[in-house]
Amino acid sequence: MRLVLIFISIFILSGCENKTKILKDIPNTKVENEIAKVIFQRCQRCHGLRAEIAALTKSDIIAHYSKKDLIEALTLYQKGKRDRHRFGFLMKGIIVDLSSDDIRILADYISKIEEKN
Ligand code: HEC
Repeated sequence: MRLVLIFISIFILSGCENKTKILKDIPNTKVENEIAKVIFQRCQRCHGLRAEIAALTKSDIIAHYSKKDLIEALTLYQKGKRDRHRFGFLMKGIIVDLSSDDIRILADYISKIEEKN
């Protein structure tokens, strides 16, 4: 019985993982883009209105990042595991309250920000 439960858990867990992987590649819906736009307002004072500025003269220009790289960077900052210019703590403080879904839609939005006018 215990073994069966373990197998069922593994099955369910691996199912979830696949689902998030697939979700990462799905573009934002209109509603998600509106949510992302609001979240992105907190990034604009440092990274620029269209993510075109090197924040505090240090960071990369994040409009050039892919969705995958954005998700990775933001997730690492959240965990306190990214710190390229000693400002990792700052980034962490700004995004600490975002859910993984927030990060996913924000990353989609920023990665396409140059396509929009
Ligand atoms: C107070 C200014 C400030 C704000 C606001 C800010 N950032 Fe940053 N961001 C920085 C700095 C400084 C770095 C470099 C951090 C480091 O030392 O690794 C950075 C780095 C990054 C990086 C990685 C780029 C690199 O060079 O490694 C990403 C992605 C990023 N920020 C996204 C965001 C997003 C998304 C938001 C809004 C939710 C945001 N930032 C808000 C200052 C800011």
